[in-house]
Amino acid sequence: MRKKLGVGIIGLGHNGEAHLKAYQSNSFAEVIAVCDFSKRKVERIKKKYGIKYGSTDYQILEQDDIQIISINTSDHLHAEPFIRSLKAGKHTFVEKPMADNISDLRKMVKAAEKNSRLKTMVGQILRFNPLFAEIKRIIKKGTLGKIFYLEGDYIHNLKCQADKERYNPETKMNWYLEKELPMVGGGCHPLDLLRWFAQDEPVEVQAYSNRITFQKMKNDSSVVAIFKFKNGVIGKVTALYEPISPYAYANNIAVYGTKGTILRDTICLNEKEGFKKIVVKYSSGHPFEPEVNHFIECILKNKKPLIDSKEGAKTAAATIIASKALKEKKSIAIPQF
Ligand SMILES: NC(=O)c1ccc[n+]([C@@H]2O[C@H](COP(=O)([O-])OP(=O)(O)OC[C@H]3O[C@@H](n4cnc5c(N)ncnc54)[C@H](O)[C@@H]3O)[C@@H](O)[C@H]2O)c1
Repeated sequence: MRKKLGVGIIGLGHNGEAHLKAYQSNSFAEVIAVCDFSKRKVERIKKKYGIKYGSTDYQILEQDDIQIISINTSDHLHAEPFIRSLKAGKHTFVEKPMADNISDLRKMVKAAEKNSRLKTMVGQILRFNPLFAEIKRIIKKGTLGKIFYLEGDYIHNLKCQADKERYNPETKMNWYLEKELPMVGGGCHPLDLLRWFAQDEPVEVQAYSNRITFQKMKNDSSVVAIFKFKNGVIGKVTALYEPISPYAYANNIAVYGTKGTILRDTICLNEKEGFKKIVVKYSSGHPFEPEVNHFIECILKNKKPLIDSKEGAKTAAATIIASKALKEKKSIAIPQF
């Protein structure tokens, strides 16, 4: 029988735990070690899941029985563990957004290129949602004709990010309030879908924002950005962090093509017949297991992950520049990766 791939998880917040569970449910993988700045979190997770090793530093990168590292640290702290993990010879998964600044993205892509025998993947999880995978399949078949306009929103009431327990005594901050850029942290989800659906790259962006709602956030909490793609397509992405509304099902996806239109989970190919439901198993939520299963399959079968580091960098870069466009109050060119 094949020996299981050893997994180490860095960053043990809500998302690190979700990843841990997804790896544990895959029969080809086993979580062997965990790491977090917080000793309390390391001990809690070790005990809860019966994990053998734990550390508050990067010691787990030296373990020979670990082949995969999964990075679930806060958005602004992805680069260092990602680069160190690759240097240590581990296949490396990093959560979305790949980074929150262009300089980190460049260093991360360089490290991945230098270690090209290792697989890298970025957690743009919505590509594993059955509805969005089906929309991609419809577009690829040519059913919508030539796409000319797309929309995607991240509308999520994240008031919980201001909860007292989100303050991290190790980093001495609540990073959600101090550091998070909504267009990057939230907007990267729909923007990644727009890039995937448009089959093209955004080259320029303009954006507007306000902070009428989530006053506790340092950065503006309501943002809209308009992207111009290389082939002339236009895309709009909105990130709202404190709407009076339930989680936006289907992320308000809209795709307009010369032969058809998709609005959320409906498709119209004929004006007289109107919109018909796209039938899939489920259309909302963050499917961690299929995402992790895909990464493991790519490692075992030596395949290119759907969102490797270059692909993740392209998505993150467009949203980082959108956040810059807000500050500079002008349209800005997006660096290409
Ligand atoms: N894919 C998704 O749908 C999804 C959902 C939620 C969060 N996320 C992403 O997951 C990441 C983590 O989010 P979270 O909500 O779990 O954050 P969190 O703040 O709850 O947890 C992050 C943990 O990482 C630890 N940490 C930070 N830097 C570290 C380092 N260098 N070494 C060791 N430990 C370190 C912190 O102590 C903290 O415990 C973020 O990038 C976030 O954007 C993705």
